[in-house]
Amino acid sequence: MKSGRGRQWRGCLLALRFLFLFFWGVPGARALDNGLARTPTMGWLHWERFLCNLDCQAEPESCISEHLFMQMAELMVSDGWKDAGYEYLCIDDCWMAPERDPEGRLQADPQRFPGGIRRLADYVHSKGLKLGIYADVGNKTCAGYPGSFGHYDIDAQTFADWGVDLLKFDGCHCDSVKHLIEGYQYMSLALNRTGRSIVYSCEWPLYMWPFHKPNYTKIRTYCNHWRNSADIYDSWESIKSILAWTSSNQEKIVDVAGPGGWNDPDMLVIGNFGLSWNQQVTQMALWAIMAAPLIMSNDLRHISPQAKSLLQNKDVIAINQDPLGKQGYLLRKESSIEVWERPLSNLSWAVAVMNLQEIGGPCYYTIAVASLGRGIACNPACLITQLLPEKRKLGFYTWTSSIKTRVNPTGTVLLQLGGTSKTTS
Ligand SMILES: *[C@@H]1O[C@H](CO)[C@@H](O)[C@H](O)[C@H]1NC(C)=O
Ligand SMILES: *[C@@H]1O[C@H](CO)[C@@H](O)[C@H](O)[C@H]1NC(C)=O
Ligand SMILES: *[C@@H]1O[C@H](CO)[C@@H](O)[C@H](O)[C@H]1NC(C)=O
Ligand SMILES: *[C@@H]1O[C@H](CO)[C@@H](O)[C@H](O)[C@H]1NC(C)=O
Repeated sequence: MKSGRGRQWRGCLLALRFLFLFFWGVPGARALDNGLARTPTMGWLHWERFLCNLDCQAEPESCISEHLFMQMAELMVSDGWKDAGYEYLCIDDCWMAPERDPEGRLQADPQRFPGGIRRLADYVHSKGLKLGIYADVGNKTCAGYPGSFGHYDIDAQTFADWGVDLLKFDGCHCDSVKHLIEGYQYMSLALNRTGRSIVYSCEWPLYMWPFHKPNYTKIRTYCNHWRNSADIYDSWESIKSILAWTSSNQEKIVDVAGPGGWNDPDMLVIGNFGLSWNQQVTQMALWAIMAAPLIMSNDLRHISPQAKSLLQNKDVIAINQDPLGKQGYLLRKESSIEVWERPLSNLSWAVAVMNLQEIGGPCYYTIAVASLGRGIACNPACLITQLLPEKRKLGFYTWTSSIKTRVNPTGTVLLQLGGTSKTTS
């Protein structure tokens, strides 16, 4: 921009940039002080794909057993998942024996986990991975196994003794909001007292919402991530409802996310049965924008090369794991198009354009570059790269230009504006 007027505009925008740094540079609420989850947790969790399958006689390959987790651990290493960043191999409900042992400790089902959790953890660690486990704040787990109420200290110590690295703590069978809040807090402190570094994955706000607005400032000081919305299903309806919940509550939840504490919209279901290719692209793109934990639930023994390459996409993972740790948000909605954006390190921005129309063909949508990234993302010019559905360098754009996108029904175009990261240059 060469005219005097242009320079005037730039001055104005530089002032904006300063304001931006001021507002976004202030650290949010204090995070749980365990040094973990500085970027969103990445891993695998059995629930969405394998549920509570106990029948190892009829379905030895998909029942909840040490065999399943050992196979997944091997594949996480041999098929590039670990190298892509997926580190935590996590057990969900239904691993326990129906009763505690005579000393009051939880124990694994002896038929399905004959080596016990300690041996499984050793095996998982020998592969350079970490092990996650599951328990419940109430009197029973959601599937009816022993709950941790009244046993928080002994359960935390048992997990630490076994070498567990992450605890997903569910909120079923809890009779009051008081017990829920106290239980989640108590378990956080009990885990800390063991001295072992254990990522603490909560469902506290999910179970609070029906009664009270959760205090996210407080939740962040106790949990590394927290589920807000109902369990994900392998369906487009489910993805849409999670995104709709997130955008309609973004004033309450976006600012609280940051290094050490994240909103958790639940598992990635990419590589399963229910989502089309475009819908899988949407999940991956939006989970990156939301700074969501990337915890897959799928069968790594049977996954298409296309789903695998999407889940292992380095550029998209780099956005998800961006060290600035700011969660993105819905910027605008215009009929069936939603534009989301997320600030990244080095004054770079990620922008997702999602087409919610479920009829017709691709939608062309034009965005004024100046309307993105609070007006400063591309001032006076920037390099724009399309990352999804496939990578394409779109070239340099000036602040006064527009970018034209073509978005498939239920699909998303993910763009990166600016930045000096090696993956986009
Ligand atoms: C326990 O909490 C203290 C203080 O909040 C912190 O310094 C320490 O690193 C924590 N320990 C573990 C194992 O998380
Ligand atoms: C667990 O059950 C006991 C006995 O019925 C009850 O007193 C307690 O409040 C229950 N705790 C929770 C968290 O539901
Ligand atoms: C939320 O929790 C924080 C930290 O515990 C506290 O300072 C604040 O007053 C609470 N906010 C509300 C609205 O209760
Ligand atoms: C930001 O830029 C610096 C300097 O070019 C580079 O070393 C660093 O990797 C960049 N950070 C990210 C997250 O791209």
